[in-house]
Amino acid sequence: MKGAVVYHSKWGNCRQVAEAVAGGIAESGIAVTVLDLGSGAGLESGLSFLVLGSPTRVGKATRPARRFIRRGLGKAWLGKPFAAFGTGMADRGEKEEPKGADELDRRLYEYGLMRLLPPFKARVTGLKGPLAEGELERARQFGRDIARALKELK
Ligand SMILES: Cc1cc2nc3c(=O)[nH]c(=O)nc-3n(C[C@H](O)[C@H](O)[C@H](O)COP(=O)(O)O)c2cc1C
Repeated sequence: MKGAVVYHSKWGNCRQVAEAVAGGIAESGIAVTVLDLGSGAGLESGLSFLVLGSPTRVGKATRPARRFIRRGLGKAWLGKPFAAFGTGMADRGEKEEPKGADELDRRLYEYGLMRLLPPFKARVTGLKGPLAEGELERARQFGRDIARALKELK
């Protein structure tokens, strides 16, 4: 089994979270590729799960992340497992909490993929970061949780 962690990031915070999530998955013995939506590259075919992340902008996911769902996925992804994540400045539970993750979660579900876990939200302490203390360890744990959920599907 091999899957992908796909992300968009302007200042690198969401990239760090993506890499930590991928690290948690890989450490559990599941192969994973990481794709930066800013690179212009596409996803290889034949992958069996998707983790998608984006910064939160005005309560939403960013345009490249939304476009990826519309154009970068295809029928082959229907029914496959997914998990979403996002970064944002607001604290969890606040009105402005990172909603980018929620939007990706909802859009992937509505597209027809199968939700593995509720979305993961990481907090940045300023517009350009850095990430709040402990967020990368939480992200790595999210990766481990994804791996465990994937193994339970078998
Ligand atoms: C125009 C703009 C709007 C933003 N709106 C929100 C928001 O609604 N809620 C939030 O939590 N963070 C918001 N942020 C903070 C971003 O989420 C933060 O810059 C981003 O997560 C950093 O990740 P990156 O380094 O990967 O780009 C906003 C940032 C910008 C530039």
